[in-house]
Amino acid sequence: MPGLFKPSRLRSRAGRALPDNLPMHIAVIMDGNGRWAKLRGLPRSAGHKAGAENFRRIAAFCKDIGIKYLTAYVFSTENWKRPQDEIDKIFSLLCDYLDESLATMEQDKVRMQFFGDIAALPQPCRQRIERVREQSARFTDATVNLCVNYGARAEIARAAERLRGGSEPITEEAFSAELYTAGIPDPQLCIRPSGVMRMSNFLLWQTAYSELYFTPTLWPDFSKNELLAILRDYSKRPRRYGGI
Ligand code: IPE
Ligand code: IPE
Ligand code: MG
Repeated sequence: MPGLFKPSRLRSRAGRALPDNLPMHIAVIMDGNGRWAKLRGLPRSAGHKAGAENFRRIAAFCKDIGIKYLTAYVFSTENWKRPQDEIDKIFSLLCDYLDESLATMEQDKVRMQFFGDIAALPQPCRQRIERVREQSARFTDATVNLCVNYGARAEIARAAERLRGGSEPITEEAFSAELYTAGIPDPQLCIRPSGVMRMSNFLLWQTAYSELYFTPTLWPDFSKNELLAILRDYSKRPRRYGGI
């Protein structure tokens, strides 16, 4: 129901649960789907399905509490190493997710962007991505960026390639402007669930000064309450950027 979870409403309901200094941009490495399924004796694909459903919940919650940008790692340039049937299942679930996004777009009012080499994706995914991108471009309150066939090194090499031969000096600003995240502030907070503590080729340029948060929770179990706890932790971290 529109308006039910306005940030102010939620803030008062959650009382002190919601800190004042929320990050404007949260990045999340949605990891642990396979292990979540294995623990339940289910096929890995069931973990990906549960992971996609959880993303819908968490993305809606982020918008409700006033997070302007949410960037999620969906499929890396390295994930092509997985068995073909798992890859097929992931892209089939992505198609379902995009169909649902198209169906609920008028209520969601979220802009959706896609970072990565989309041209290399299966045709049904590409078509839906184009439709979602175009039809959601008019929404300005919140943006979800899905990283699909994304790798930070590929993104950095692509930016260098795009600047090659130009006459202007290559400054940090010029370089940032050629990344997928052009015009978007760097994520203040990057969360990786599943107990794995590495970046796995995610947003290597943009997370130079991000606060990192690692949690053992597997992505399908990652809850709104845990996110609130992480936001409280984030709000207390001194961010010095090399100063004192
Ligand atoms: C993350 O979950 C989803 C993708 C990388 C596509 P995983 O599939 O990596 O789950 P684990 O790490 O094997 O548990
Ligand atoms: C990173 O998870 C990619 C995504 C979550 C989409 P992986 O499971 O692929 O990362 P590694 O292999 O553990 O580093
Ligand atoms: Mg993994």
